[in-house]
Amino acid sequence: MYERWEELEQAVSCCKKCRLCENRINTVFGTGNKEAKVMFIGEGPGADEDKLGEPFVGKAGKLMNMAFEGIGIKRQEVYIANIVKCRPPSNRNPQDDEAKACMDYLRNQVIFVKPKIIVLLGSVALKNILGKEYNITASRGKWVEKNGIFYLPTWHPAALLRDETKKIDFWKDLKNAKEKMELL
Ligand code: URA
Ligand code: SF4
Repeated sequence: MYERWEELEQAVSCCKKCRLCENRINTVFGTGNKEAKVMFIGEGPGADEDKLGEPFVGKAGKLMNMAFEGIGIKRQEVYIANIVKCRPPSNRNPQDDEAKACMDYLRNQVIFVKPKIIVLLGSVALKNILGKEYNITASRGKWVEKNGIFYLPTWHPAALLRDETKKIDFWKDLKNAKEKMELL
């Protein structure tokens, strides 16, 4: 547990706690408002994120930005991070030991930001944060309150690229998160 953002960022930037350090170009720490009411958690960096060191800057990120814009969420007002900070090879899912190795960093980010709402983007985020017993299809769009934080599981934006019909759910969930944010 680090006391300051700079220490945490520094630790991530040179981390070798799991095998994902071997092929990364950049670590992808996270970005946004460090006092955000809402935090978004994805899975892990893809090729574009690995190149730029920023989360959700590729195709899925552009789609997420469009949803943000449509709903009136500013990307700079929320905080965005991932389960793992280094890109898994060929964009495979992070393995359990990799997610576990990286989880202290995310926990530290959550402690610093103190979000009231956490939007879980897809199955990997859902299972690693709330537990393996959760299933994204069954949990999507349903609030889960735990230790004073409201969690909202939704589709991963990359899933919207594969299945257009999921966009409606995603938009609905983001709207729901925004409305709740304004009440808290
Ligand atoms: N997918 C993710 O889960 N995270 C990113 O940062 C980009 C794509
Ligand atoms: Fe460290 Fe996380 Fe990268 Fe693994 S994925 S090397 S734990 S920063």
